[in-house]
Amino acid sequence: MNLVILLSGRGSNMKAIHQSIVDGRLNAKIDLVLSDNPKAEGLQYAQSQQLSIAVIEKTPGESRENYDQRLMEKIDSAKPDLIALAGFMRILSPKFIQHYPNKIVNIHPSLLPAFPGLHAQRQALNAGVTQSGCTVHFVDEGCDSGPIIDQRKVPVLPNDTEETLSARILVEEHKLYSECLQRIAEGKVKIEGCKIIFL
Ligand code: GRF
Repeated sequence: MNLVILLSGRGSNMKAIHQSIVDGRLNAKIDLVLSDNPKAEGLQYAQSQQLSIAVIEKTPGESRENYDQRLMEKIDSAKPDLIALAGFMRILSPKFIQHYPNKIVNIHPSLLPAFPGLHAQRQALNAGVTQSGCTVHFVDEGCDSGPIIDQRKVPVLPNDTEETLSARILVEEHKLYSECLQRIAEGKVKIEGCKIIFL
């Protein structure tokens, strides 16, 4: 399974995916790590591992559609089986999503459908929930709303801050994302129509 990974920052999920591949737990190949941010920390790790990287920055005043078109051209040149969003901080246009039907997955730091969007961990703390977690899902045109592949729960502790809760969730993210990708690689998770099927 050929992957293109999109990120904007730290890149710890990309690193965990790469490590899973190196360790033989994930049967996939990272063809390209693509960022909208030239300063993304994750790019340094990708380069240190001899992964192909590309930076596509949005130019001032550029429309989302135009930007996404440039992204698509770069992604298409890598001919991926799957696009994995890993902390990519841009909302993708419907045209982009439609160009890759059932071929985009994302990881989100909450138990979706709870707390979509930005600052999911802060939202969880503000809501006073006693558990949160992470979700890997297919990407549709909504905000963190596509079919859920799997989730991991973590407790929310009384003295948690956004940082401590985020760190606890991140440990699970790093395991869950590769596990879900492996299930997709094995053909065990599929979308038929608008239904997710587990084989
Ligand atoms: C993660 O918390 C992920 O769930 C969210 O963005 C963050 C990215 O972290 N979508 P990293 O760049 O993978 O370290």
